[in-house]
Amino acid sequence: MYKIFDTTDEVSHYAAARLLGTIKAIPTAVLGLATGSTMVPVYAQLLRGLQQAAVDVSTVTTFNLDEYVGLSAGHAQSYHYYMYQHLFNELNIPAQNIHLPDGMASNLDEACQSYTDTIKIRGGLDFQLLGIGTNGHIGFNEPQTSFASRTHVVELTAQTRLDNSRFFADKHEMPTRAITLGILDILEAKEIVLVATGRNKADIMAELYHSEIDEALPASALKQHANLTIVLDREAASALPREAVEKKIASAPADFL
Ligand code: F6R
Repeated sequence: MYKIFDTTDEVSHYAAARLLGTIKAIPTAVLGLATGSTMVPVYAQLLRGLQQAAVDVSTVTTFNLDEYVGLSAGHAQSYHYYMYQHLFNELNIPAQNIHLPDGMASNLDEACQSYTDTIKIRGGLDFQLLGIGTNGHIGFNEPQTSFASRTHVVELTAQTRLDNSRFFADKHEMPTRAITLGILDILEAKEIVLVATGRNKADIMAELYHSEIDEALPASALKQHANLTIVLDREAASALPREAVEKKIASAPADFL
């Protein structure tokens, strides 16, 4: 299902409301979370919504999608650091319920296996929040990743390194590898919301709209999922066929309460 809103603010509000709805319905929810610039306003809205509705998150569990190999939790560009800055510092989710892949693990393969296993032990993901790379990656599953993949180490593509080096003052510090949840791990989530905003996502969203399910376009794996919502602003939807957009336009979401 597609939802298209006029503004990034409305998109973020909608995605936050979906997360909030899951937490309210399932106080022990297991949430799959993403990072990146798209999610900054989503988490800001989620914090606002949680506060307004006085929701307790002390029994929520989270698993992040990915982490750079070689960056410690304290590194300002690590996804660990990002999550605490944008979300976790403001919430009372117990530390033992917060999970991110360990990019500093001495045995990365073991760390990957244990990440997938821990999700299963915790009962699987109730909700997976996703962004999308300009090359169609989800998590850091780059084009040609097997749709049967589990958590694994990836060599980031030149496109992803170029896109994400904008966050690094010294471009040479941009890691070349990352750990990511696999595509099969993502597909096993009960509910998936993919968010894309801005004109730089228009081409990939049009490609995804027209694409078959094909490992060349990782996000196309999601087309097999029974509970997927793709949420776009007008700019990210600007290369979709006009009739498709008109049918999927949503009105601004109501406030959280
Ligand atoms: C981040 C992640 C990536 C990003 C994608 C878009 O945890 O999994 O797939 O969602 O690279 O990033 P932004 O939002 O920065 O355009």
